Amino acid sequence: MTAEARALIDRLERTQTLTRPELATLLADDSPETAAYLFRRARAVREEHYGNAVFIRGLIEFTNYCRNDCFYCGIRRKNGRADRYRLTEAQILDCCALGYTLGFRTFVLQGGEDMWFDDRRLCGLVSRIKAAHPDCAVTLSVGERSRESYRALRGAGADRYLLRHETASPGHYAKLHPAPLTLENRLRCLYDLKEAGFQVGCGFMVGSPHQTDENIIDDLLFLGEFQPQMVGLGPFLPHHDTPFAVYPPGSQARTLFLLGIVRLLLPRVLLPATTALETAAPGGRERGILAGANVVMPNLSPAGVREKYLLYDNKAHSGDEAAEAVASLRQRMAAIGCTLAVDRGDPAV
Ligand code: 5AD
Repeated sequence: MTAEARALIDRLERTQTLTRPELATLLADDSPETAAYLFRRARAVREEHYGNAVFIRGLIEFTNYCRNDCFYCGIRRKNGRADRYRLTEAQILDCCALGYTLGFRTFVLQGGEDMWFDDRRLCGLVSRIKAAHPDCAVTLSVGERSRESYRALRGAGADRYLLRHETASPGHYAKLHPAPLTLENRLRCLYDLKEAGFQVGCGFMVGSPHQTDENIIDDLLFLGEFQPQMVGLGPFLPHHDTPFAVYPPGSQARTLFLLGIVRLLLPRVLLPATTALETAAPGGRERGILAGANVVMPNLSPAGVREKYLLYDNKAHSGDEAAEAVASLRQRMAAIGCTLAVDRGDPAV
C-alpha cells in the first residue's frame, strides 16, 4: 500500500469527502494491503455507530411484471421468457406474518414497475401491513412513480424507499436504459422521495457494461451530495435473456472495495451485503459485512416464486425455508463476530 492511499483513506474517514482526482487515485490502487486497510477502517466506523449488529430485512418479491426494458434486467418487459407472477395481498400478508415470527421487523416489498399495483392497491397493502405489525418498518422498492404517488404511499405508512440511481452519469445511464428512461427522472424521483419524508436508498451496479472509473466517481460524488440513508451496491451479473447477456460479470473484489469507501463516505449508512454479492462468489455476504456493510436481506417470498424473480443468472437462493435461512445466516454472522439485530434498524443518530 502506498503512503498516499493510506493518507486518502484516513482523510476520507476524517472528513467524509475526497475530490475527484483523489477518488481516482484511490480507485486505481487495487493492492490487497490497501483493501485490507480500507476494510479495517470501515469496520471501525461501522462499529462506532452500530456495534456488532447486522440488521435483517425480509425481502418480498411480490411481482415480476415490469413496464420497463432496462438492458441489464431479466424481468424487463421484452423478455417473453420470464414466467410472470403477482402475489395476492393475502400471500404478501402471510409472508409478513411468517417473517414476524422469525424476528424480522422490516419488510421490503420489491417488484417490477407493475402498474396493476396502483396507488389505491399499494396504499391499501401498506396500511394493512402496518396495522398488523405496527412495530415494523415497511420499505418499498417499486420504481419510478409520481411525486403524488410517493406522498400517498408515505401517508399510508411506508417508511423507506429503495430506488437505485443505477449510474450518476447521464451518458452511461443512456447505455443501460432505453428511451424514455432518463437519469433526470430518476433523480427527480429520489428528491421527491426525500421530500415526501422517506428514508431513501439509492445505489448502483459495479462493473455494469460500459462503466468507467469516472462513472464510479460520479456515483460516489452523488452519494456524498444526496446523503441517502441506505445504499444498494452489487456487482452486475448477466442474464441470458437480455441484451447484456454477453457482458462479463462485475468483480466481487471491486464491489467490496466500494462498500468500504461508501462506509467511510456515509458513516451511518445502512449498507446491505447484497444477494448479487453472494451470487458472484459464495461467502460474499460475510465478505461484504467485513468490508463495512451492516444489512442482509433474506428472501421471504414464497418458495414457488423465487426462481421467477430472476434479475440475473444463478441468483443465490438457499433453497432453504425462510426459517432455516435465518438460522444459517445467524450462524454465519456469529462466525464473523456479528449479531443479527431484532429491531427495525433505523439509521443511527
Ligand atoms: N445484475 C445485477 N443487478 C441487477 N439489477 C437488475 N438487474 C441486474 C443484473 N443483471 C439491480 C438493479 C436494480 C435492482 C433491483 O437490481 O440495480 O435497481
